[in-house]
Amino acid sequence: MTTATARAFPNIALVKYWGKRDEELILPVAGSLSLTLDAFPTTTTVTLTPDAQADSFSLGGDVATGETALRVTRFLDHVRALAGADVPAQVVSTNEAPTGAGLASSAAGFAALATAASDAYGLGLEANALSRLARRGSGSAARSIVPGVAIWHAGHDDSTSFAEPVDAPDMRMVIVTVDTAQKAVSSREAMRRTAATSPFYPAWITSTEQSLADMVDACAAGDFTRIGEITESHALRMHAVIQACEPPIRYLAPASVAVFDAVASLREQGIEGYATADAGPNVAVIVRPEHGEALREELSAFGSARLVGPGPGAAPFTAADSEAPA
Ligand code: PMV
Repeated sequence: MTTATARAFPNIALVKYWGKRDEELILPVAGSLSLTLDAFPTTTTVTLTPDAQADSFSLGGDVATGETALRVTRFLDHVRALAGADVPAQVVSTNEAPTGAGLASSAAGFAALATAASDAYGLGLEANALSRLARRGSGSAARSIVPGVAIWHAGHDDSTSFAEPVDAPDMRMVIVTVDTAQKAVSSREAMRRTAATSPFYPAWITSTEQSLADMVDACAAGDFTRIGEITESHALRMHAVIQACEPPIRYLAPASVAVFDAVASLREQGIEGYATADAGPNVAVIVRPEHGEALREELSAFGSARLVGPGPGAAPFTAADSEAPA
């Protein structure tokens, strides 16, 4: 029996990916930059099942059907095409983050699946190729292959669109979970609608390229304040371009906005944090390491607040790992 297990962590983008230039290859309209976290991992086992008729997928003990199962099968079809194989697989996945709530569970999910499936089907991919493979499952998964801060180059074709590590100052993040409900509109659908109907979309694309260039400079300079300023204004721009589509989509809840306000006023008091939010109501706040715990305590008034740091890239996982202290 050929089987492989891998674990990957979610990432939170500081410069966001929002919009595809190529839906089939998942090539983004612009590059992005993120922090891979050391919490909320997904662990996935892929076992080749020559006697089975089809793939099977279970998430957190529940057998998946419909669109969720189809997405996994389409991904495995791609892996099989690369491997020149046609054997179905059983995929068993557990996810420690609330699924679909804007905590990038699809990023950790497809990064873990790419790593485990690549091993199980004997592809033996190096990091850039693994990042390109993960990208085919979910764009942001390309970045969860990489530890710490990752830049995903938009590229111009399959071979040039991948994520790799970037040197950046040490930072922490406080994840404020204000709501764990599944989001009403998937990022896939919302990206399509934004591209088709938001009048601000062209400006979003050009300004994201500028934000990414500025962010790369700020990381190289070790300038945490500049990194934070770009992060916060860029996040609000993403939510603005999304809110401007028709019919409108609004991911931020009143509680999310309250966290942004609290972060701004805590900055005035010397706790230097900057907020961002993905396609959901939960807020992630980057902070200098020395202010992490103080910020977490302040923000716990708004929901469950967890202090996290830079995490590892996707990697094979063995039973011995699970016995090691986290
Ligand atoms: O990878 P997807 O299709 O789930 O898109 C993720 C998009 C955002 O999380 C909102 C932004 C990002 O760059 O991660």
